Amino acid sequence: MRTSMKSTLTKFVLGGVAASMLTLGVSADTLTRQNGAPVGDNQNSQTAGPWGPVLLQDSHLIEKLAAFDRERIPERVVHARGVGIHGYYENYVDLSDETVAAPFQGEGKKTEVFVRFSSVVHGHLSPETLRDPRGFAVKFYTEQGNWDLVGNNFPVFFIRDAIKFPDMVHAFKPSPVTNKQDAKRIFDFFSHVPESTHTLTMLFSDYGTPASYLNMDGSGVHAFKFVDDEGNYKYVKFTWKANQPIKNFSAEEAMKVQGMDFQPHTTDVYTRIGEKGETASWDLYLQELEPEQLDDFEFNPLDTTKIWPESLVPAKKIGRLVLNRVPDNFFEETEQAAFAPSNLIPGIEPSEDRMLQGRLFSYADTQRYRLGVNAYRIPINAPKNAVINNHEQHGQLRTTSSNRDVNYQPSRRLDLNEDPAFRYSSKPLAGMTQQIPFYKEQNFKQAGEFFRNLTKEGQAHLISNLGGALASVPEEEIRVIISAYMYNADKNYGKGVAKLAKAPMSKVRQTAKDLMKQQAARAAKAKQVAESLTALMQ
Ligand code: HEM
Repeated sequence: MRTSMKSTLTKFVLGGVAASMLTLGVSADTLTRQNGAPVGDNQNSQTAGPWGPVLLQDSHLIEKLAAFDRERIPERVVHARGVGIHGYYENYVDLSDETVAAPFQGEGKKTEVFVRFSSVVHGHLSPETLRDPRGFAVKFYTEQGNWDLVGNNFPVFFIRDAIKFPDMVHAFKPSPVTNKQDAKRIFDFFSHVPESTHTLTMLFSDYGTPASYLNMDGSGVHAFKFVDDEGNYKYVKFTWKANQPIKNFSAEEAMKVQGMDFQPHTTDVYTRIGEKGETASWDLYLQELEPEQLDDFEFNPLDTTKIWPESLVPAKKIGRLVLNRVPDNFFEETEQAAFAPSNLIPGIEPSEDRMLQGRLFSYADTQRYRLGVNAYRIPINAPKNAVINNHEQHGQLRTTSSNRDVNYQPSRRLDLNEDPAFRYSSKPLAGMTQQIPFYKEQNFKQAGEFFRNLTKEGQAHLISNLGGALASVPEEEIRVIISAYMYNADKNYGKGVAKLAKAPMSKVRQTAKDLMKQQAARAAKAKQVAESLTALMQ
């Protein structure tokens, strides 16, 4: 009697099956710990008797809580919320005489891609309906390594120099004091940044609230260089034009949708591509400029606040992007994806665009922090059609190794060498180092053209969205300056915004004139300093 009670108790405490499995292999349907050992109880912590505390020796409990405590990696500092989709790029036009870049060699060539669409300012689980530009980042897995074209849905950006980016993002993000996004902080910053007129205009139009990631265009924004096999280069811009109709929400529709589903973009992608098996496609258009054409325009073609109007620089269709498969796992692919403008391949080089030059540093740097030093070895980021073959080694979470005795170069013992065919192109340079703004600012003209190209309804929405947001700013000076930007872009646009924002028109007109004078004075000074510095060189 005593013996059988003891054995029942032992079975209960140890778990009958677990006790008998100690010597057996672990079956596939048994829960395990990280070390592969079976878990005996995933419902009850180990305690010191029925009334006692939980024991620290319950390693499964400790490991489970510790893993949970570390589930979140830092969210992206911007573009935190996104949706990834797999697909391919198909090249239509052989561009081998312009660039040695792999995706553009031959007609019909296909290159595997992963795309991540995102909102910009708002956090990882924020409503997708909020007003924001949208990210349009494409990773091409080429046989020359991965090329990332990290663009947006807008073809222009708010600023033209990377040095302003952290301030701009701080102004857009919630206040460090109240944790609220606040129009007065945003417009305070932008009242010092007239070059933002073009992109602010797009942001407050209905293009700032797209109805779907699949129904919007995309743009590489910056100029890049296409480099041929002799090192000759030209400047190029890339634009994705959707084959799905462009669809935006009005502010009213966005609010209504948000009340029903705060993540409509993710729902849309997982329904259309994930469940219904639809595909979405975009045609890729290319614009090209010879280096000697850079000074031929009223604006600087290397200025991210400007488009290259197609009337001045024609666009040709060169291929298409097809997206057809959602990731198997959000975290492993979409969240861990690391797109970087510095991930370039032979035949594509950065232009001297001052924003792009800052981005070349910033992305890989933040990704070393967000994902670790081996970020580009995580499967979604690793080359799929090329191999990594260098002597960079170790660091956290390194899981592969070349395991070579020779981990240095040059060596007589290992024939692993650079190939001079892939040297960067050369560019003639002259001048002194300097810190001078562009002398062709042209801060307002393209914003006016954009405004006039909107439908009457689109113009009314823009005026109401921007004027309404600006009205909440307590300082009259800020309301006047922002209205004056818009007045300089287009008089009707400026008047409409000023009226809603309660900015007195007499002050708006005067400020608009002053802004034009200041722009001209800055331009004259910048030109003069640049010329005198160049003269000093001669
Ligand atoms: C100097 C200006 C800029 C800086 C310093 C900057 C910085 C950053 C940083 C730090 C991230 C987070 C990256 C990550 O954690 O993986 C990011 C993401 C992103 N940025 Fe920028 N950015 C700048 C301008 C732009 C511009 C002009 C565009 C569009 C052409 C753009 C498009 C994107 C996109 C699409 C992402 C998200 C990529 C993804 O889906 O993972 N950024 N940016």
